[in-house]
Amino acid sequence: MILGRLTYGLLLVAVLSGLALAPFWSAARPLESLETLNGATPWGFWLRGVHALSSWGFLLGTLAHLVEVLWKKTDGRLSPGVWWRSVALLPVSILALLGGFLMRGDAEAQAGLAVWREVSASIPFAGRALAALLLGVPGSDLAPVALHHAGTFTLLAWLLTAEHGRALAPDLRSTVLAALGSFAAAGLLPVSLGPAVAPAGALLLGPWYLLGLQGALLHLPVVAGWLLPLLLLAVVGLVRHVDGRWRTTLLAVAAAWSAGYLAFTVRLLLAAR
Ligand code: HEM
Repeated sequence: MILGRLTYGLLLVAVLSGLALAPFWSAARPLESLETLNGATPWGFWLRGVHALSSWGFLLGTLAHLVEVLWKKTDGRLSPGVWWRSVALLPVSILALLGGFLMRGDAEAQAGLAVWREVSASIPFAGRALAALLLGVPGSDLAPVALHHAGTFTLLAWLLTAEHGRALAPDLRSTVLAALGSFAAAGLLPVSLGPAVAPAGALLLGPWYLLGLQGALLHLPVVAGWLLPLLLLAVVGLVRHVDGRWRTTLLAVAAAWSAGYLAFTVRLLLAAR
Protein backbone atom coordinates (compact mmCIF):
# COMPACT_ATOMS: atom_id res chain seq x y z
CA MET A 1 0.00 0.00 0.00
CA ILE A 2 1.47 3.32 -1.12
CA LEU A 3 0.28 5.15 2.03
CA GLY A 4 2.10 2.74 4.33
CA ARG A 5 5.31 3.01 2.27
CA LEU A 6 5.19 6.81 2.22
CA THR A 7 4.66 6.81 6.01
CA TYR A 8 7.81 4.71 6.44
CA GLY A 9 9.66 7.25 4.23
CA LEU A 10 8.45 10.06 6.52
CA LEU A 11 9.85 8.22 9.55
CA LEU A 12 13.28 8.10 7.89
CA VAL A 13 13.09 11.85 7.09
CA ALA A 14 12.11 12.53 10.75
CA VAL A 15 15.09 10.52 12.04
CA LEU A 16 17.61 12.13 9.65
CA SER A 17 16.35 15.68 10.28
CA GLY A 18 16.33 14.93 14.05
CA LEU A 19 20.00 13.91 13.84
CA ALA A 20 20.75 17.17 11.99
CA LEU A 21 18.95 19.20 14.71
CA ALA A 22 20.54 17.46 17.69
CA PRO A 23 23.87 19.43 17.75
CA PHE A 24 21.93 22.72 17.99
CA TRP A 25 19.74 21.68 20.92
CA SER A 26 20.77 21.99 24.58
CA ALA A 27 19.13 20.00 27.39
CA ALA A 28 20.08 22.70 29.92
CA ARG A 29 18.87 25.65 27.77
CA PRO A 30 16.27 24.12 25.41
CA LEU A 31 14.26 27.23 24.56
CA GLU A 32 17.28 29.54 24.15
CA SER A 33 19.03 26.99 21.92
CA LEU A 34 15.95 26.68 19.68
CA GLU A 35 15.44 30.47 19.60
CA THR A 36 19.03 30.80 18.33
CA LEU A 37 18.42 28.05 15.77
CA ASN A 38 15.14 29.64 14.66
CA GLY A 39 16.19 33.27 14.50
CA ALA A 40 19.97 33.43 14.12
CA THR A 41 20.99 30.30 12.19
CA PRO A 42 20.49 30.37 8.40
CA TRP A 43 17.90 27.75 7.41
CA GLY A 44 17.47 26.79 11.10
CA PHE A 45 13.71 27.48 11.06
CA TRP A 46 13.43 25.33 7.93
CA LEU A 47 15.30 22.39 9.47
CA ARG A 48 12.93 22.53 12.49
CA GLY A 49 10.03 22.57 10.07
CA VAL A 50 11.30 19.54 8.13
CA HIS A 51 11.61 17.58 11.39
CA ALA A 52 8.24 18.60 12.84
CA LEU A 53 6.27 18.24 9.60
CA SER A 54 7.76 14.87 8.61
CA SER A 55 6.94 13.64 12.16
CA TRP A 56 3.38 14.93 12.02
CA GLY A 57 3.06 13.39 8.56
CA PHE A 58 4.29 10.09 10.00
CA LEU A 59 1.56 10.16 12.67
CA LEU A 60 -1.16 11.17 10.20
CA GLY A 61 0.04 8.53 7.72
CA THR A 62 -0.01 5.84 10.44
CA LEU A 63 -3.57 6.82 11.40
CA ALA A 64 -4.78 6.98 7.79
CA HIS A 65 -3.14 3.63 7.03
CA LEU A 66 -4.90 2.05 10.04
CA VAL A 67 -8.27 3.38 8.89
CA GLU A 68 -7.55 2.08 5.36
CA VAL A 69 -6.70 -1.40 6.69
CA LEU A 70 -9.84 -1.55 8.86
CA TRP A 71 -12.01 -0.24 6.01
CA LYS A 72 -10.67 -2.76 3.48
CA LYS A 73 -10.73 -5.52 6.12
CA THR A 74 -7.12 -6.46 5.38
CA ASP A 75 -6.16 -6.74 9.07
CA GLY A 76 -6.54 -10.53 8.86
CA ARG A 77 -3.46 -10.65 6.61
CA LEU A 78 -1.25 -9.93 9.63
CA SER A 79 -0.63 -12.59 12.26
CA PRO A 80 -2.20 -11.69 15.65
CA GLY A 81 1.20 -10.86 17.16
CA VAL A 82 2.20 -8.54 14.31
CA TRP A 83 -1.27 -6.94 14.37
CA TRP A 84 -1.02 -6.07 18.09
CA ARG A 85 2.51 -4.76 17.66
CA SER A 86 1.32 -2.67 14.69
CA VAL A 87 -1.47 -1.22 16.86
CA ALA A 88 1.21 -0.43 19.47
CA LEU A 89 2.89 1.78 16.85
CA LEU A 90 0.19 4.37 17.53
CA PRO A 91 1.03 5.09 21.22
CA VAL A 92 4.75 4.73 20.48
CA SER A 93 4.52 7.39 17.72
CA ILE A 94 2.51 9.70 19.99
CA LEU A 95 5.07 9.31 22.79
CA ALA A 96 7.91 10.02 20.31
CA LEU A 97 6.17 13.17 19.09
CA LEU A 98 5.22 14.28 22.60
CA GLY A 99 8.87 14.03 23.69
CA GLY A 100 9.82 16.35 20.83
CA PHE A 101 7.13 18.84 21.85
CA LEU A 102 8.41 18.84 25.45
CA MET A 103 11.97 19.45 24.16
CA ARG A 104 10.89 22.93 23.01
CA GLY A 105 11.02 24.10 26.63
CA ASP A 106 8.60 27.01 26.08
CA ALA A 107 5.66 27.74 28.43
CA GLU A 108 3.37 25.28 26.63
CA ALA A 109 6.02 22.55 26.74
CA GLN A 110 6.67 23.17 30.47
CA ALA A 111 2.93 22.89 31.20
CA GLY A 112 2.74 19.77 28.99
CA LEU A 113 5.61 18.22 30.96
CA ALA A 114 3.80 18.82 34.28
CA VAL A 115 0.55 17.30 32.94
CA TRP A 116 2.32 14.30 31.43
CA ARG A 117 4.13 13.70 34.74
CA GLU A 118 0.77 13.70 36.58
CA VAL A 119 -0.82 11.35 34.05
CA SER A 120 2.13 8.89 34.19
CA ALA A 121 2.21 9.02 37.99
CA SER A 122 -1.50 8.09 38.14
CA ILE A 123 -0.76 4.63 36.66
CA PRO A 124 -1.14 2.20 39.60
CA PHE A 125 2.00 0.73 41.21
CA ALA A 126 4.65 1.64 38.60
CA GLY A 127 3.38 5.15 37.76
CA ARG A 128 5.82 7.28 39.76
CA ALA A 129 8.81 5.19 38.74
CA LEU A 130 7.68 5.34 35.12
CA ALA A 131 7.33 9.13 35.28
CA ALA A 132 10.85 9.44 36.70
CA LEU A 133 12.22 7.06 34.06
CA LEU A 134 10.59 8.83 31.10
CA LEU A 135 10.76 12.45 32.27
CA GLY A 136 13.46 12.56 34.96
CA VAL A 137 12.82 13.76 38.50
CA PRO A 138 11.03 17.12 38.91
CA GLY A 139 13.51 19.97 38.47
CA SER A 140 15.98 17.98 36.33
CA ASP A 141 16.87 19.13 32.81
CA LEU A 142 15.34 17.65 29.65
CA ALA A 143 18.09 15.08 28.99
CA PRO A 144 15.89 12.05 29.93
CA VAL A 145 13.08 13.34 27.67
CA ALA A 146 15.57 13.76 24.80
CA LEU A 147 17.05 10.31 25.41
CA HIS A 148 13.67 8.61 25.06
CA HIS A 149 12.64 10.87 22.18
CA ALA A 150 15.68 10.22 20.02
CA GLY A 151 16.50 6.79 21.48
CA THR A 152 13.81 4.55 22.99
CA PHE A 153 10.70 5.70 21.12
CA THR A 154 12.47 6.34 17.81
CA LEU A 155 14.01 2.85 17.93
CA LEU A 156 10.69 1.25 18.92
CA ALA A 157 8.84 3.11 16.15
CA TRP A 158 11.45 1.94 13.65
CA LEU A 159 11.36 -1.70 14.80
CA LEU A 160 7.54 -1.84 14.76
CA THR A 161 7.35 -0.18 11.33
CA ALA A 162 10.07 -2.49 9.96
CA GLU A 163 8.24 -5.60 11.19
CA HIS A 164 4.90 -4.34 9.88
CA GLY A 165 6.33 -3.35 6.48
CA ARG A 166 8.59 -6.44 6.32
CA ALA A 167 11.54 -4.23 5.34
CA LEU A 168 14.45 -2.84 7.36
CA ALA A 169 14.26 0.51 5.54
CA PRO A 170 11.77 2.34 3.30
CA ASP A 171 12.24 2.11 -0.48
CA LEU A 172 14.02 4.92 -2.29
CA ARG A 173 10.97 6.27 -4.14
CA SER A 174 8.87 6.67 -0.97
CA THR A 175 11.82 8.26 0.85
CA VAL A 176 12.41 10.82 -1.94
CA LEU A 177 8.68 11.62 -2.08
CA ALA A 178 8.50 11.98 1.72
CA ALA A 179 11.60 14.19 1.77
CA LEU A 180 10.41 16.47 -1.05
CA GLY A 181 6.97 16.82 0.57
CA SER A 182 8.52 17.66 3.97
CA PHE A 183 11.00 20.15 2.43
CA ALA A 184 8.21 21.99 0.60
CA ALA A 185 5.83 22.01 3.60
CA ALA A 186 8.60 23.29 5.91
CA GLY A 187 9.09 26.31 3.64
CA LEU A 188 5.36 27.10 3.72
CA LEU A 189 4.45 26.37 7.36
CA PRO A 190 6.94 27.67 9.94
CA VAL A 191 6.79 25.75 13.26
CA SER A 192 6.02 28.00 16.22
CA LEU A 193 8.04 28.52 19.38
CA GLY A 194 6.31 30.19 22.34
CA PRO A 195 7.62 32.44 25.14
CA ALA A 196 9.29 31.04 28.28
CA VAL A 197 6.50 32.47 30.45
CA ALA A 198 2.91 32.66 29.24
CA PRO A 199 0.84 35.88 29.65
CA ALA A 200 -1.30 35.73 32.83
CA GLY A 201 -4.63 33.95 32.29
CA ALA A 202 -3.64 32.47 28.91
CA LEU A 203 -4.91 28.94 28.19
CA LEU A 204 -1.83 26.90 27.31
CA LEU A 205 -2.36 24.28 24.61
CA GLY A 206 -0.62 20.94 24.29
CA PRO A 207 0.40 19.48 20.92
CA TRP A 208 -2.45 19.40 18.36
CA TYR A 209 -2.77 15.60 18.37
CA LEU A 210 -3.40 15.58 22.17
CA LEU A 211 -5.88 18.45 22.36
CA GLY A 212 -8.83 16.03 22.62
CA LEU A 213 -7.23 14.40 25.67
CA GLN A 214 -6.40 17.80 27.16
CA GLY A 215 -10.03 18.86 26.67
CA ALA A 216 -11.31 15.64 28.27
CA LEU A 217 -8.97 16.06 31.26
CA LEU A 218 -10.61 19.40 32.07
CA HIS A 219 -13.69 17.36 33.11
CA LEU A 220 -12.39 13.88 33.97
CA PRO A 221 -9.99 12.59 36.65
CA VAL A 222 -6.31 12.38 35.70
CA VAL A 223 -6.41 8.57 35.20
CA ALA A 224 -8.47 9.26 32.06
CA GLY A 225 -5.18 10.45 30.54
CA TRP A 226 -4.02 6.84 30.11
CA LEU A 227 -7.32 4.91 30.49
CA LEU A 228 -9.02 6.53 27.49
CA PRO A 229 -6.15 5.85 25.05
CA LEU A 230 -5.84 2.31 26.42
CA LEU A 231 -9.55 1.72 25.77
CA LEU A 232 -9.18 2.78 22.12
CA LEU A 233 -6.12 0.56 21.64
CA ALA A 234 -7.87 -2.46 23.16
CA VAL A 235 -10.94 -1.93 20.96
CA VAL A 236 -8.88 -1.52 17.76
CA GLY A 237 -6.65 -4.47 18.66
CA LEU A 238 -9.63 -6.79 19.28
CA VAL A 239 -11.16 -6.03 15.85
CA ARG A 240 -8.63 -8.46 14.32
CA HIS A 241 -10.08 -11.33 16.41
CA VAL A 242 -13.81 -11.03 15.70
CA ASP A 243 -16.18 -11.04 12.73
CA GLY A 244 -19.67 -9.95 11.78
CA ARG A 245 -21.70 -8.16 14.43
CA TRP A 246 -18.86 -7.97 16.96
CA ARG A 247 -16.56 -6.37 14.41
CA THR A 248 -19.21 -3.77 13.57
CA THR A 249 -19.77 -3.06 17.29
CA LEU A 250 -16.05 -2.58 18.00
CA LEU A 251 -15.64 -0.33 14.96
CA ALA A 252 -18.65 1.71 16.11
CA VAL A 253 -17.06 2.14 19.58
CA ALA A 254 -13.77 3.26 17.96
CA ALA A 255 -15.66 5.71 15.72
CA ALA A 256 -17.62 7.10 18.71
CA TRP A 257 -14.35 7.48 20.66
CA SER A 258 -12.78 9.37 17.73
CA ALA A 259 -15.83 11.62 17.32
CA GLY A 260 -15.74 12.44 21.07
CA TYR A 261 -12.02 13.19 20.80
CA LEU A 262 -12.61 15.53 17.88
CA ALA A 263 -15.42 17.28 19.76
CA PHE A 264 -13.15 17.87 22.82
CA THR A 265 -10.47 19.22 20.46
CA VAL A 266 -12.84 21.71 18.83
CA ARG A 267 -14.24 22.76 22.23
CA LEU A 268 -10.75 23.44 23.61
CA LEU A 269 -9.73 25.40 20.52
CA LEU A 270 -12.85 27.56 20.80
CA ALA A 271 -12.16 28.16 24.52
CA ALA A 272 -8.58 29.20 23.70
CA ARG A 273 -9.65 31.89 21.18
C1 HEM B 1 17.54 10.23 16.05
C2 HEM B 1 16.30 10.62 16.15
C3 HEM B 1 15.85 12.00 16.58
C4 HEM B 1 16.53 13.08 17.07
C5 HEM B 1 18.03 13.20 17.35
C6 HEM B 1 15.56 14.13 17.32
C7 HEM B 1 15.85 15.40 17.82
C8 HEM B 1 14.94 16.39 18.08
C9 HEM B 1 15.24 17.70 18.61
C10 HEM B 1 16.64 18.20 18.94
C11 HEM B 1 14.06 18.38 18.74
C12 HEM B 1 13.85 19.79 19.27
C13 HEM B 1 13.82 20.76 18.12
C14 HEM B 1 12.53 21.46 17.86
O1 HEM B 1 11.55 21.40 18.62
O2 HEM B 1 12.48 22.12 16.83
C15 HEM B 1 13.01 17.51 18.29
C16 HEM B 1 11.68 17.87 18.25
C17 HEM B 1 10.70 17.06 17.74
N1 HEM B 1 10.83 15.77 17.27
FE1 HEM B 1 12.57 14.73 17.12
N2 HEM B 1 14.33 13.67 16.97
C18 HEM B 1 14.45 12.38 16.52
C19 HEM B 1 13.45 11.53 16.09
C20 HEM B 1 12.12 11.88 16.01
C21 HEM B 1 11.05 11.01 15.59
C22 HEM B 1 11.25 9.56 15.15
C23 HEM B 1 9.90 11.73 15.66
C24 HEM B 1 8.50 11.29 15.33
C25 HEM B 1 8.17 10.37 14.51
C26 HEM B 1 10.21 13.05 16.12
C27 HEM B 1 9.32 14.08 16.37
C28 HEM B 1 9.60 15.33 16.85
C29 HEM B 1 8.63 16.38 17.08
C30 HEM B 1 7.13 16.31 16.76
C31 HEM B 1 9.31 17.46 17.63
C32 HEM B 1 8.70 18.79 18.08
C33 HEM B 1 8.75 19.76 16.96
C34 HEM B 1 8.16 21.06 17.45
O3 HEM B 1 6.98 21.08 17.82
O4 HEM B 1 8.91 22.04 17.48
N3 HEM B 1 11.57 13.11 16.34
N4 HEM B 1 13.57 16.30 17.89
